Amino acid sequence: MYQRNLSTTTCKLKDIPKGKTQSSSLWLARQFSDPYVQKAKMENYRCRSAFKLLEINSKVKMLHPGMKVLDCGAAPGSWSQVAVKLVNSNGDDTKKPKGLVISVDKLPIYPIDGAVALSRCDFTKPIIQEQLVSILKDEKLDVVLSDMAPNATGVKEMDHDLISKLANSVIRFAVTYSKPGADVLIKIWDGRNRPQLEENISQFYSKFKIIKPESSRQNSSEIFLLGRGFKGLKPSSQVTESKSEDQVS
Ligand SMILES: C[S@@+](CC[C@H](N)C(=O)[O-])C[C@H]1O[C@@H](n2cnc3c(N)ncnc32)[C@H](O)[C@@H]1O
Repeated sequence: MYQRNLSTTTCKLKDIPKGKTQSSSLWLARQFSDPYVQKAKMENYRCRSAFKLLEINSKVKMLHPGMKVLDCGAAPGSWSQVAVKLVNSNGDDTKKPKGLVISVDKLPIYPIDGAVALSRCDFTKPIIQEQLVSILKDEKLDVVLSDMAPNATGVKEMDHDLISKLANSVIRFAVTYSKPGADVLIKIWDGRNRPQLEENISQFYSKFKIIKPESSRQNSSEIFLLGRGFKGLKPSSQVTESKSEDQVS
């Protein structure tokens, strides 16, 4: 079992080196005082994000033993760690069905016991999606998760457009490779494309919900879009890109 905590490192305020910029000092100070960072360290999760998925799942109960899950934007790996436990993909509970967790990220993913990791792989690339499909063999997914986030530019609208584009690529993949009844959970930074994303999800899923977990920093625009009960793919259906995204290269 992987024991290192990659992003739950804490430090004392007095340890912040003098040359640090104000923003990195603030980041370190926030990490130090964040109870979820401490909790992640204690419970051996790779980062505090684990608690967002745990919280969402305890509300909506979407992950169960035996399920097949795709985790997009998985690095460093805390959502995958949670998913592995909940779907029993490491077979720890011999009495329950064994699930499958596939984790994909542009960044390196250190091995996670019970997950198949596509490390340093861009989810949006067709060749990577072909690899994901080949791991699934002829089976379909029960849950598609995306905590993917682009490198933020700091320009709110542009960052929102970039993350919306990632969200639409997740919806497209999910509706093509999910079984009827499946769920999708996608992180976005809130903004002008939200209605279109909601429409894109609602077109294919029976229920749509927006979730902002307690463990998501309240000053962040991060929200989670949840589609439940995939209706199955109709030949005429398609995912519509938001107009503003055309301006994003
Ligand atoms: C907030 S982090 C995910 C944290 C993760 N859920 C966890 O719990 O450890 C967002 C991740 O999205 C990844 N990402 C962004 N764009 C991507 C893309 N096109 N393909 C794959 N991963 C991507 C980033 O590399 C980053 O690791």
